[in-house]
Amino acid sequence: MWRNTRSGWGLVSISFHWLSALAVIGLFILGWWMTGLGYYDPWYNQGPWVHRSIGILLLMVTTARIVWRLVQPTPKGEGSRFERLAAHVGHIGLYVLLLLVMLSGYLISTANGRGVSVFDWFEMPAVLSNLPNQASIAGDIHWYSAVTLIVIAAGHALAALKHHFVSRHATLSRMLSPAYSRRRA
Ligand code: HEM
Ligand code: HEM
Repeated sequence: MWRNTRSGWGLVSISFHWLSALAVIGLFILGWWMTGLGYYDPWYNQGPWVHRSIGILLLMVTTARIVWRLVQPTPKGEGSRFERLAAHVGHIGLYVLLLLVMLSGYLISTANGRGVSVFDWFEMPAVLSNLPNQASIAGDIHWYSAVTLIVIAAGHALAALKHHFVSRHATLSRMLSPAYSRRRA
């Protein structure tokens, strides 16, 4: 139920996947919207505060997700050799981009030496600050890597729909429920 098998994803991996998909899409929209706000808008400070807080929580969840991914078996890929290779490379790319987006966001926020407050519950300390042009270089990396992440995730979602509706593979169903692959096993 909780763990993965060679035929399907367990509840832990499924929860990680959908929780982080929701967070990534939400953070992208929030990030885009908040950077266009005027100085006197009540969300001018509140928006980035929520964005950074959710972003740091996602960074912690993603670290746990990657550890879980490395110690657990993974279900066998479906489709042609090319599709399986593309999926594998695409998934690694998604993990790398996730880390790049979040680490660059962290570096923008800690450029002046202050830590990042997470909903005032705790503070993530600054470890690298005052590098030359840190905020603007990290800001450029953050924007371009976030856009690339969203484009690849959109291609990834289309591939999942192709597997489900065209090739009639179990790929999407087994990412929706652990019961699905147990029934088939
Ligand atoms: C997957 C997670 C994330 C996504 C998809 C995301 C996306 C975005 C986007 C699209 C923007 C607007 C960029 C622009 O218009 O230049 C933005 C801005 C920003 N993000 Fe993120 N972000 C994520 C995580 C984080 C994290 C973890 C932090 C910090 C702890 C962070 C801090 C910031 C800051 C400070 C800005 C404002 C930058 C500026 O004013 O130029 N983000 N983010
Ligand atoms: C920002 C959004 C998303 C991100 C960052 C993301 C990321 C990922 C990653 C990294 C994996 C690989 C899991 C692993 O091997 O450890 C994965 C698997 C998967 N994703 Fe997503 N995903 C997103 C959105 C979606 C959406 C919208 C769908 C469906 C329409 C979807 C369907 C799937 C499916 C079916 C798998 C399992 C593939 C398999 O069993 O081989 N994902 N996703």
